[in-house]
Amino acid sequence: MRDFDQSNITRAVIESFQQTPDARLKRIMTSLADHLHRFVSEVGLTPEEWSYSIEFLTRTGQMCSEKRQEFILLSDTLGVSMLVDALSHGALEGATDSTVLGPFFSKDSPSLPNGADISRGLLGEPLFVDGRVTSVDGAPIIGAKVEVWQSDADGYYDVQRADFDEAALRATFTTAADGCFNFWSIMPRYYPIPDDGPVGDMLKATGRHPNRPAHIHFKIDGRGFETLVTHIFDAESPYLDSDAVFGVKNSLVAKFEREYAGVGPFGKSVSKPWRKLSYEFGLKAQFIDARSVQKTNADATSCY
Ligand code: BEZ
Ligand code: FE
Repeated sequence: MRDFDQSNITRAVIESFQQTPDARLKRIMTSLADHLHRFVSEVGLTPEEWSYSIEFLTRTGQMCSEKRQEFILLSDTLGVSMLVDALSHGALEGATDSTVLGPFFSKDSPSLPNGADISRGLLGEPLFVDGRVTSVDGAPIIGAKVEVWQSDADGYYDVQRADFDEAALRATFTTAADGCFNFWSIMPRYYPIPDDGPVGDMLKATGRHPNRPAHIHFKIDGRGFETLVTHIFDAESPYLDSDAVFGVKNSLVAKFEREYAGVGPFGKSVSKPWRKLSYEFGLKAQFIDARSVQKTNADATSCY
């Protein structure tokens, strides 16, 4: 076929995919061409805008390195990461909701015993995290691997700090016989996502801020259960209603309780008021289908 214009090019591109051997790939490419062409026609994309788009995507790729994944940031800020997550991790009664992984996860965080302090001397408001991992019916999951990571009191992760070459505010714990894990840390702070690249340009050009509300990340693996990737957000943090990556869910917002100075859990002497987060994480068994019921944190129990 020849002589393509807006009246026939979409059909021609879709037909070009008809021999795709993989049925799923065929469906994805056909739908992509259809939606992309509709989008270009609907906004009447000009040659200058098309050129800018290509240049934007080129810069996005060029910004990527071992330490920076600008395409994931783009996906996050366009809400695609949360949409993909929502489509494959539906809510289920008793199961903790998931949210984005983000770019600051490291699979090599140090394994520490329960009760350890992960702050590595970084200053901030002391925080004790008292977690418990269960199945959706509340039975404790023993020996689950719990990876945690968080920002410091200035809103930076260890990997963003030039003055830090070892892991801080990140660790791997294993749940005890009662499903519990716990650690000392400091309060995380809200922070801007990296905004010195094309994604930052997009946020500025559209009048959006780059901030995420204060949170702690958790990745939990229990044998026979789906991996849970989630955060717990501080209920007092700014930006809960305008997270730059659309990651906040009500069920993941928790009160970080205020405690008096004195002797805290694990006999730790705390010279100033400290905070405590108690949270129960429910994991889905690997074979269970998602249903549309929310878990609340109302029944979290303390267990250190
Ligand atoms: C994070 O929470 O670490 C994060 C998530 C998405 C984009 C940037 C940072
Ligand atoms: Fe984060």
